Amino acid sequence: MWISLIGFMGSGKSTVARLLGERALLPVVDLDREVVRREGATIGELFRARGEPGFRAAESAALAALSPDADLVLACGGGLVTTPAAVALLRGRGCVIWLDAPWETLQARLAAAADAGDDRPLLAAGDWEAVRALDGARRPLYAGAADFRVRTDQTAPEVTARRVLTRHVAWQRQR
Ligand code: S3P
Repeated sequence: MWISLIGFMGSGKSTVARLLGERALLPVVDLDREVVRREGATIGELFRARGEPGFRAAESAALAALSPDADLVLACGGGLVTTPAAVALLRGRGCVIWLDAPWETLQARLAAAADAGDDRPLLAAGDWEAVRALDGARRPLYAGAADFRVRTDQTAPEVTARRVLTRHVAWQRQR
């Protein structure tokens, strides 16, 4: 069964996924990294060469190539939820968890990551109002796709990861 983490850029998916993998002894798959590995190009290069639709197609293909029966933690890219078929696939594979933080926290994290040189084409224009609007527009998609939501701005990542696992156990019992 998969434990899939969704949420906006900067919500902490990669960090929490790594901690979950360590705690639950599960392999961790980062979907962005899978796309880069499969396509032999960076996310920025894919956006520039194929546009966002081309990137989304590569993202969906990488998702579909993951073993349905594997036990794993999956850190999804922030825009995966804009592809309805991808959301349906995630939900069919296991538990979908929305990692969430207020805009101010996301912006601070993203600004720090951009200063450190990370490759997020949707931030390249430096138009924070547009990014904020994207966060707002996607919130209903995250809410609709997720089995439950965990905030990442109130506790240290280790505590957040423990909370995710506790909620996941409760979710499994309810099924
Ligand atoms: C994107 C988020 C990125 C990456 C790509 C597009 C998005 O992943 O997939 O830059 O549309 O929100 P992270 O959420 O891991 O930054």
